[in-house]
Amino acid sequence: MNGISLHDLAPEALASLDEVVRGLHSPQKELPCKLLYDERGSELFEQITALDEYYPTRAEMRIMRGAGAEMAARLGAESVLIEYGSGSSTKTRILLQHLERPTGYVPIDISREQLERSTQSLSEAFPELRVMPVCADYTGSLELPRMVGRAGRRVAYYPGSTIGNFVPEDARRFLARIAEVCAPTGGLLIGVDLKKDPLMLHRAYNDALGVTAAFNLNVLRRLNRELGANFALDQFRHYAFYNPVFARVEMHLVSLSEQVVRLGRASIHFDRGESIWTEASYKYTLSDFAQLAARAGWRVAQVWTDDRTLFSVQYLVLS
Ligand code: AVI
Repeated sequence: MNGISLHDLAPEALASLDEVVRGLHSPQKELPCKLLYDERGSELFEQITALDEYYPTRAEMRIMRGAGAEMAARLGAESVLIEYGSGSSTKTRILLQHLERPTGYVPIDISREQLERSTQSLSEAFPELRVMPVCADYTGSLELPRMVGRAGRRVAYYPGSTIGNFVPEDARRFLARIAEVCAPTGGLLIGVDLKKDPLMLHRAYNDALGVTAAFNLNVLRRLNRELGANFALDQFRHYAFYNPVFARVEMHLVSLSEQVVRLGRASIHFDRGESIWTEASYKYTLSDFAQLAARAGWRVAQVWTDDRTLFSVQYLVLS
């Protein structure tokens, strides 16, 4: 990787068998949403971001293109940029083009291959930039390489509204951990999806081509392959809906028949119509999110939205 050394915290790619079995034995069966992102799942997610119905990525890109320079000015000169869940770092390029003399870029991602690929291409595009990749599950507490601490004022970037995939109390805890990393003078630039017409949300998570359905069902394929389970994929249906009481899109896999699935030594019984909850995607109003951020030690300093107010990118400072 071009002489750049990767700081590898050896994250567990798959949840443990115990965690999976526990989730499938709870009254509302559930699986951690990080299971959606094996290699095929990540590819399917990339396809989702290009779908007509999936508005968030396009809206966020439009905001970034329109206000990248302003955002970079907020992040400040001579800062080290830490990106949580960097993926392909597409939106980051816009920021890096505008950032004044960044002292480093720290992409954090659970996928080693993805990190290697994006580090390579970013180093080619920005040869002066010091890239310090960290392979880790950023949802847990993690120790950044010591040189990050020495690189200057720390500012974080968390695009994509992935914050919406945490239940609000976990989101608060995660934001508070970023606050510790960026203290005392840093900031956080974060993408947050907004509450809107439920029909638009419904379409975004039930696309006509069935890519989201394939993304959701891929979780069962993964459990079959990696944990030796025997899910019959044609006996489960992707089901996603917006729940306005909790302001979240819920993604489920519904059993089409009464059946028993084997997973290691465990047998999991499904009634016909019973579901596994695989993901929550919370949507916020600007004031809901400001309140959540405040409980984590942040103050919203500036908000950018697209012209239809579908999505927001927000700059937070420590309060
Ligand atoms: C990654 N995350 C913000 C996406 C979302 O919209 O919650 C994941 C996704 N699930 C279904 N479609 C996209």
